[in-house]
Amino acid sequence: MKPKSTELFESLRTLGLRHRSRNLKVSNLSRVACDQRIISLGRDDRMAGETKKSHTYWPAETFGLQRSGLYQSLSDSQKARVLETMSQLRLSLAWYIEKVGLAYCSRALLECDSHEEKRLYALMASDEAVHQRMVEHFLVDGEPIEALEKHPLLLCIADVIQNAKPMAAVYVVQILLEGFGMSYYSAMRSTCESSLLRGVFDQILKDESRHHGGGLARFGSKDLDAEDLREIEHHTGRLIRAMSGVGFTGIAIETVLNRPLTPEEKEKLLEETEWNRQAPVRLAQIRELLSRHEVPGLNLARSV
Ligand SMILES: [Fe+2]
Ligand SMILES: [Fe+2]
Repeated sequence: MKPKSTELFESLRTLGLRHRSRNLKVSNLSRVACDQRIISLGRDDRMAGETKKSHTYWPAETFGLQRSGLYQSLSDSQKARVLETMSQLRLSLAWYIEKVGLAYCSRALLECDSHEEKRLYALMASDEAVHQRMVEHFLVDGEPIEALEKHPLLLCIADVIQNAKPMAAVYVVQILLEGFGMSYYSAMRSTCESSLLRGVFDQILKDESRHHGGGLARFGSKDLDAEDLREIEHHTGRLIRAMSGVGFTGIAIETVLNRPLTPEEKEKLLEETEWNRQAPVRLAQIRELLSRHEVPGLNLARSV
């Protein structure tokens, strides 16, 4: 019979790693294992190769930048850098959303009662890890923009995962955030210029809709007490405020110009790109999401 360590090295060798224990690193194993899953899902394994050529995946029109005087005044190379930064900001937020999704699964795995629930969350955790890795292939050097870790949406979710009661966490993360995530990914997919990245969004959307459904099933199976209702109302209000403000054009132009925009420049940019005019559309989408998942005893749509 082979010793256990030999079996381990053999299985690692099939993952493309060298047969030397000092080369084993958790980060390598995690990436290789995720990539194996990506390939087994039938997703294109040329992902990494293709994306080395460019890290810009959306045209200026997606963000209304073609109407901005400030954007039009930039040189061609500055414009290209603004568009690349916009792509990287959007994908970095997605990367962090997948990260908090994974943290949520870790908590839910410890809390759920039945073996079936645990199995569901273990699979969901695996999906989130693979989603994060798929997005990583489209980030410059495979790294997200670090400043985004402090995005209000992510801070709000991190607080819910750490402090909210179990049913409030299910509602806010698995129903609302997953629901928002589906709109976010499908909006990104609709104007994305890379067929490989569109394929990634297709896979993510398919999985997220299952996660969202799992949240609805778990939420519907439990009774809520007054404290649950109070927490749901509190965290939902915060989440809505954070979700309605996800806009990156100002940050991207500031990054490229290497200076902060004046309040007047910011206002003009929001006006010309029609960000302000689209605010009622974004609010209507959030209201619609809330009304689909109304909680008895609370009128959440009223708080938008
Ligand atoms: Fe995900
Ligand atoms: Fe998810």
